[in-house]
Amino acid sequence: MKLASTFIQLASVVCAAAAVLPRTDCGRLSQAFAEDVVAKFITILNHPDPAAANATAQALLADGYQEISDSILSLEGQPLGGITFEGKQGYIEGVLAAPPVEGITTNEILVAGSSKILWYWTFYGIGSGEYEVKGFNLFTITEKGQISTLNLEFNSIAWGLNTGYQIIFPEGGGAPTK
Ligand SMILES: *[C@@H]1O[C@H](CO)[C@@H](O)[C@H](O)[C@H]1NC(C)=O
Repeated sequence: MKLASTFIQLASVVCAAAAVLPRTDCGRLSQAFAEDVVAKFITILNHPDPAAANATAQALLADGYQEISDSILSLEGQPLGGITFEGKQGYIEGVLAAPPVEGITTNEILVAGSSKILWYWTFYGIGSGEYEVKGFNLFTITEKGQISTLNLEFNSIAWGLNTGYQIIFPEGGGAPTK
């Protein structure tokens, strides 16, 4: 009994010490840190002030930054399973040169353990904006608190329709749930 309660006391002391670090809460990434990462990432995507967005991106993304997305490769007509961006400078230049992503809405921001953040989002302003586009960003965070990898999957059919792709339905369906 006594040993167990001493151990619990010890564990809570260790947790209190860990909570002092800005990015962690008892060995996990903190919710506040996760929300800050997503808020910064949004300012990169919509880049109202490109110079500020660049500075934010330079600080937030790790040097070996990778983006991995079969949704993007599908839209590009590329083979699946590859990397969509390798290295942060190319990514930052690409995002800042693209039109701002409008209508970004956060559905959920979730911390997964010591190195992952999941951002579930809806973008209402892609292309014509006719269809909402829902997706997930899974960020991997380094010890320094930077993003090293972004795994990103979203409704690429809605994105494609909003931006002028033609969809031809197969005879007899082909949707996964109908
Ligand atoms: C962003 O900042 C970096 C580092 O200061 C600079 O080398 C780069 O040219 C800038 N890129 C853009 C698109 O402003």
